Amino acid sequence: MTKKSQKSFSLAIHGGAGENVDKIRALEKESKESMAHVLEEGRKILAAGGTALDTVTLCVKLLEDNPLFSAGYGAAANAEGEFELDAAIMDGKTLEAGSVAAVLNIRNPVDLARLVMEKTEHIMLSGIGAGDFAKAHDIAMVTPEYFKEAHEKVPHMIERNKKHGTVGAVARDINGNLAAATSTGGWDAKMPGRIGDSPIIGAGCFADNDSGAVSCTGIGEDFMRTVLAAHIGFLIERCGLSAIDAAQEAINYLVKKVNGDGGFILVDKDGAVAIAQSSKVMRTGWIENGGETHTTLQPKIRADRKR
Ligand code: GLY
Repeated sequence: MTKKSQKSFSLAIHGGAGENVDKIRALEKESKESMAHVLEEGRKILAAGGTALDTVTLCVKLLEDNPLFSAGYGAAANAEGEFELDAAIMDGKTLEAGSVAAVLNIRNPVDLARLVMEKTEHIMLSGIGAGDFAKAHDIAMVTPEYFKEAHEKVPHMIERNKKHGTVGAVARDINGNLAAATSTGGWDAKMPGRIGDSPIIGAGCFADNDSGAVSCTGIGEDFMRTVLAAHIGFLIERCGLSAIDAAQEAINYLVKKVNGDGGFILVDKDGAVAIAQSSKVMRTGWIENGGETHTTLQPKIRADRKR
């Protein structure tokens, strides 16, 4: 590790991967501006010595509140028109984690996931129990109209790309601690009760100070079957791969094993950022070792899936 990386911070975010290039490109300017804003808010925390955990929580909350992205306010509805949301958070220092699955009427599922991590002995809460837990604590609740409003007010702003739409953040703070968070409404018109990879620790979200922090986006079933987020941690910690090599190896593995569709963001234990995709486009941005803010729809590390 270089002296610079020991003292600096890194942050990456994503606003979902997808196949509908035209729809995503039509929102390129707004998406990049929103992501740059989120990254700058994250930078403020990290530059002031704040934690990776607080940073990924805030970044995912800001993405959840933005109707450009399919999580929180802009989440996709299930086949019954209900908004069942999934989210997870993981602390790379302690390996503690929290997640919520198929929760209703929660404005910021990432907040509830963090509460599960901090206030319970469990990792995942779902359904009615998760709702009761939220009501018993200081968690912002909304009505279904809140989510419908995002669709009705700004339909052109929401990427209605079936099977895609997730947000996430990964960070390394100046003390070398890592964290990851992921949040989603899942697939458009998914079966009621369907749960994707986002709240599954090791599939759509993972952080370990000995390897890296990962947040995934794409078809959750592909990431669950390959346990991709934990697979990336294994490649770094046990196989000794760099962030870039681990990202290339993992996206190749996703395609080779299940012709997987999606992508991920990674910050490794030394602060190196790597972003990979097998989808056609992925909304993402990053700050590496305290440097400039970058945003793109075309991360460079790719694997071509069969279409
Ligand atoms: N990757 C999000 C989902 O499939 O639910």
